[in-house]
Amino acid sequence: MIKKASYKELLGKVFDNLAPSFSEDWPKLAAVRAEGAYLYTEDGREYLDFTSGIGVTNLGHNHPKVLQAAIEQMKLFSHSAVGITLHEPLLRLTEVLPTVMPEGMDMFFFGNSGSEAVEGAIKLARYVSGRPGIIAFRGGFHGRTYGAVSVTSIKSKYRLHYEPFVPGVYFTEYANPFRCPIGNLPADAVDWSMQSLENVFNHYISPTEVAAILVEPVQGENGYIIPPVDFLKNLRSICDQHDILLIFDEVQTGFGRTGQMFAAQTLGVRPDIMAVAKGIANGFPLGATVASRELMSKWQAGSHGTTFGGNPVACAAALAVQKVFAEENILKNCRKMGVKILAGLQEIQKKHDFIGEVRGLGLMLALEIVKPDGHKTPDGEKAFKILNVMLDSGLVGYMAGTTGNVVRLIPPLVVKPEQIEKALEIMEVSIRSV
Ligand SMILES: Cc1ncc(COP(=O)(O)O)c(C=O)c1O
Repeated sequence: MIKKASYKELLGKVFDNLAPSFSEDWPKLAAVRAEGAYLYTEDGREYLDFTSGIGVTNLGHNHPKVLQAAIEQMKLFSHSAVGITLHEPLLRLTEVLPTVMPEGMDMFFFGNSGSEAVEGAIKLARYVSGRPGIIAFRGGFHGRTYGAVSVTSIKSKYRLHYEPFVPGVYFTEYANPFRCPIGNLPADAVDWSMQSLENVFNHYISPTEVAAILVEPVQGENGYIIPPVDFLKNLRSICDQHDILLIFDEVQTGFGRTGQMFAAQTLGVRPDIMAVAKGIANGFPLGATVASRELMSKWQAGSHGTTFGGNPVACAAALAVQKVFAEENILKNCRKMGVKILAGLQEIQKKHDFIGEVRGLGLMLALEIVKPDGHKTPDGEKAFKILNVMLDSGLVGYMAGTTGNVVRLIPPLVVKPEQIEKALEIMEVSIRSV
């Protein structure tokens, strides 16, 4: 008979039993319970969770209404391969989501994750346009499956040993005002990115061969890079000019994170296709490729499919998520708390020349850590030290950026003022200590 190991014993064997490809992840907290903005670990500690599972538990851990909806559905049934059986939560979700999606985003293909949503978006764009080319941005992250990693360029490590990738992908420059080689103004960053795109069109692929431009409206894994709105507006008009489809990857920005339900609404630019996941069901695996009825209707029977996508429990949770957004003033709280934490971080920045930039949109917050050498040299080592001191003090943040030099805060959208104050206190002390 196999002796049942204790949780502690199992933790000692993590690297014997799990693929080492995951071993770089941090901080591997041994969770036993989570509620609201808090995580509780096996050693009896309480942590303020300002990662929200990387932008997933936007309503806080175990939101009672979401939990209840999932439990009720589980009692009925928990799996349905879409098509063999249909179910009410799925169909109801297709009625509710269009009321909160950017205008015209009213038809859905449900999968299980962000990567799948991106795969769907790429496949849909190629299928309906009949064109091969996909343009993606340097520093972007779209997931780990083959199509998604083929359009990802945040770190070469994510691509190492995986060639050949899905062909037809071309990378161009994102508009990042903090790291623009031709000037520090937002307009310089827009010019730089547009010149780069023009180069791609002139040298590598004609716009008539391009199916889609795929962009994160705020680059997530690259460190919450908030582009000037003109960058996205220009992409919109270039797409209109050449009949190219504009895909917004809103996997990380979606479901309230930027202060509106989607960044497309916060920034006022309309995509043709969207990839959404993460916060959609507050922790239950669900994602969707979304487009207008007109576009999606061209994706003919049998051209894409799934076994688990649109799971009944996840769809019931997603419906409850929408109910909570409607009933609990979540977006207003996100905007208000976003302003509060951003102001606090900007105060901290004034005292430390190694904080190159503080960025924030809604409750996506980032501190870019640099060497105070006048060249904005990224300092990933210092960022990691800060994150570790924060962790020791009971605040979980996360890293971002190609070299890990960005300290990223992703609080739940239900975060309370006193939790923000506590987090800022810890940030202040942690940053001072390094
Ligand atoms: C913008 C973006 N797209 C896609 C993904 C991939 O999502 P998943 O990990 O659910 O496959 C992520 C994950 O962090 C993301 O941030």
